[in-house]
Amino acid sequence: MQSFTLCFLVVKLLDLFEMLKLGQKLNEGKTKQIFELVDEPGHVLVQSKDQITAGNAVRKDQMEGKAAIANRTTSCVFKLLQEAGIKTAFVRQQSETAFVAAHCEMIPIEWVCRRVATGSFLKRNPGVKEGYRFSPLKLEMFFKDDANNDPQWSEEQLLETKFSLAGLNVGRCEVDIMNRSTVAIFEVLERAWATQNCTLVDMKIEFGVNVRTKEIVLADVIDNDSWRLWPAGDRSQQKDKQVYRDLKEVTPEAMQMVKKNFEWVSERVKLLLEPKACGRVVVLMGSTSDLAHCEKIRKACGSYGIHCVLRVTSAHKGPDETLHIKAEYEGDGVPTVFVAVAGRSNGLGPVMSGNTAYPVINCPPITPDWGAQDIWSSLRMPSGLGCSTVLSPDAAAQFAAQIFGLSDHLVWSKLRASMLNTWVSLKQADKKLQACSL
Ligand SMILES: Nc1ncnc2c1ncn2[C@@H]1O[C@H](COP(=O)(O)OP(=O)(O)OP(=O)(O)O)[C@@H](O)[C@H]1O
Ligand SMILES: *[C@@H]1O[C@H](CO)[C@@H](O)[C@H](O)[C@H]1NC(C)=O
Ligand SMILES: *[C@@H]1O[C@H](CO)[C@@H](O)[C@H](O)[C@H]1NC(C)=O
Ligand SMILES: *[C@@H]1O[C@H](CO)[C@@H](O)[C@H](O)[C@H]1NC(C)=O
Ligand SMILES: *[C@@H]1O[C@H](CO)[C@@H](O)[C@H](O)[C@H]1NC(C)=O
Ligand SMILES: [Mg+2]
Repeated sequence: MQSFTLCFLVVKLLDLFEMLKLGQKLNEGKTKQIFELVDEPGHVLVQSKDQITAGNAVRKDQMEGKAAIANRTTSCVFKLLQEAGIKTAFVRQQSETAFVAAHCEMIPIEWVCRRVATGSFLKRNPGVKEGYRFSPLKLEMFFKDDANNDPQWSEEQLLETKFSLAGLNVGRCEVDIMNRSTVAIFEVLERAWATQNCTLVDMKIEFGVNVRTKEIVLADVIDNDSWRLWPAGDRSQQKDKQVYRDLKEVTPEAMQMVKKNFEWVSERVKLLLEPKACGRVVVLMGSTSDLAHCEKIRKACGSYGIHCVLRVTSAHKGPDETLHIKAEYEGDGVPTVFVAVAGRSNGLGPVMSGNTAYPVINCPPITPDWGAQDIWSSLRMPSGLGCSTVLSPDAAAQFAAQIFGLSDHLVWSKLRASMLNTWVSLKQADKKLQACSL
């Protein structure tokens, strides 16, 4: 037992000292090296190099500390996306300058997503003024081909190339998945940066095929070089790599300024992971016979990271207590959504709704015998009441999450990623069925 504990400790210590056993170098590019991990099949170490490149390495200046900042940015951004529920290659931060990721075969396409027109888009689309806002987002793809300066591609060109990576053929379904995922990822990051009064102007990302799961996942990195950020929507305060590209002369002072900007981003990127508002769902049930129904609501709230408490109270039999409980949750300043669970005649939701300015969601447990009649007690309200009614416990939690998502970007991101994942599942189910019927 003791030797087991000791062994465990040694392993943990080795971990701390970053004694990852590296296998062969699988790839090396301008900014990073990729190593096989001997003890973690299917995973790689992504090691940043301490240099910054622009104009395809025409300029190459070592910038001390850049790797570390890039690493932190990538780690935080991937953590944010992963917690939202978006599939990424990122596994964990390993050191100051390296992280562990799922081994992917990379799809050689850069997906570019734009909210505001600037940069190369203006050159390719003369007549469009800088600052033009895209709604819906503008999506472009570029084939990664340094020798030809990464030409822009159409969907048709990508489809006709018939890439096959890690055994997955990149066809209609896969292209659509990358298209939709890029938009969802942009929207999640845009919402997150908005909490820092920062406009995400545009972004470029790459996807890979996870060699083990054969799934398309967001891979490579997202760091300063991957996006344009304009604090307060003001281009003159840009905090991205454009500052570096725009340098007339690479002086030590200028490089200091670029580095400062990068640090500005990497400081703020941590804040993206902090919840903005701590909301709470309070489920009121008329009797404990509805406990199972209420537990489902609590569980679903948990999947959005929303705290949920369950209380028993009857508006018919103990209205004083109902109002007392209401006052308890109104009194501490925590934003609250009430969910009323009452069978037969739902007095609970309407009484709450008539006496609080907080949102009230009716989620009556409908029974087969009288359900069709009972439901009217939740639907037909006196004037002045604004409670809503949903029937499934999951839907009640989701609706509450949508309310909190208005002010909490982390909750919103989970809803957004869930929408994406549902869309992807449908697409894949259809593809599978098509393949079967052939
Ligand atoms: N999880 C991963 N698994 C396997 N390869 C990866 C992973 N993440 C990134 N890579 C690849 O590692 C290589 C080195 O990265 P780097 O960004 O330094 O290349 P680069 O010089 O910028 O070339 P590129 O134009 O392909 O990005 C790239 O080809 C990248 O696609
Ligand atoms: C942010 O941008 C700065 C400047 O480009 C860069 O040094 C830093 O590495 C970037 N951060 C990340 C995480 O890439
Ligand atoms: C790299 O990222 C990890 C995870 O966020 C962090 O623990 C580590 O400190 C970072 N390194 C640097 C230099 O910021
Ligand atoms: C992404 O999908 C949309 C909707 O199907 C399509 O209009 C658009 O051309 C696609 N974009 C790219 C770059 O493939
Ligand atoms: C964003 O701007 C608003 C209004 O100008 C300000 O109140 C808020 O403090 C700013 N937030 C951050 C994180 O800078
Ligand atoms: Mg690269």
